[in-house]
Amino acid sequence: MGRDPVQFHDTLSHSWSSRYRSGAFARRFAILNDLLASVVVAGQRWLDLGCGSGVFTRVLLDRGACVAALDGSRAMLDAAKVALEGPAVQVDWIHGDVRDLSRFEDGHFDGIVCFSVIEYLPDASRLIGEVSRVLRNDGFFIFSVPPNFSLSRGLQKLVRKFLGLFGVNVFEYLSVSILEISRTGVESLVRNFGMSVMDVRGFDSCVPAWMRLVISRPALMIYVARKDQNATAG
Ligand SMILES: C[S@@+](CC[C@H](N)C(=O)[O-])C[C@H]1O[C@@H](n2cnc3c(N)ncnc32)[C@H](O)[C@@H]1O
Repeated sequence: MGRDPVQFHDTLSHSWSSRYRSGAFARRFAILNDLLASVVVAGQRWLDLGCGSGVFTRVLLDRGACVAALDGSRAMLDAAKVALEGPAVQVDWIHGDVRDLSRFEDGHFDGIVCFSVIEYLPDASRLIGEVSRVLRNDGFFIFSVPPNFSLSRGLQKLVRKFLGLFGVNVFEYLSVSILEISRTGVESLVRNFGMSVMDVRGFDSCVPAWMRLVISRPALMIYVARKDQNATAG
């Protein structure tokens, strides 16, 4: 049996938010923050699915959304609660599995974010099905997932394997980050559940910007999908 991704993230909870202060995390944050600024409307109901230490929960709150935030790691949720505590902050914190949204009615949310979570699942269809069910028609689903055949992920895997021969454990996240889906795979997956991809952005921490023009598969793809206007919950 593989390592449990939630337990893996338990061990990172104390320092997760601080990663966003610089480097690749800060650049990824800027992209996602801009995307959210363009779609979140004050008063809407949003779900931060796999919220971690609450970095994007805060962005949603700052945009005036009413937020539910769900994660399987109690340590991450505790870190999020501490980071966001304050009399004005009303978040529905939920400890649970991202694939089980049975506590929510059909069409409950105006939008759902799910950043850097799907790759920790053995497959994405159950999550996408639940997302589509609890999303209102026309609602946004913004998420990230690594593509297959990513150059930088492939290199990291090689380095990890090689150094592993000498007992050196690098890029440890690759022991739990297992799912990779091509862009066409993602497009057809969301289509099966009554959603359409509206926008796609690539993100890569290693490959320089000029090279990204010729490399179509960066380390991470960020998708903006929308539930179809006439969708019936999948
Ligand atoms: C890489 S972190 C991302 C956190 C946050 N979305 C962000 O972008 O900063 C992945 C999170 O997904 C959670 N997670 C992974 N698999 C999960 C599952 N099956 N159910 C609930 N949470 C899960 C982990 O506990 C962790 O907090």
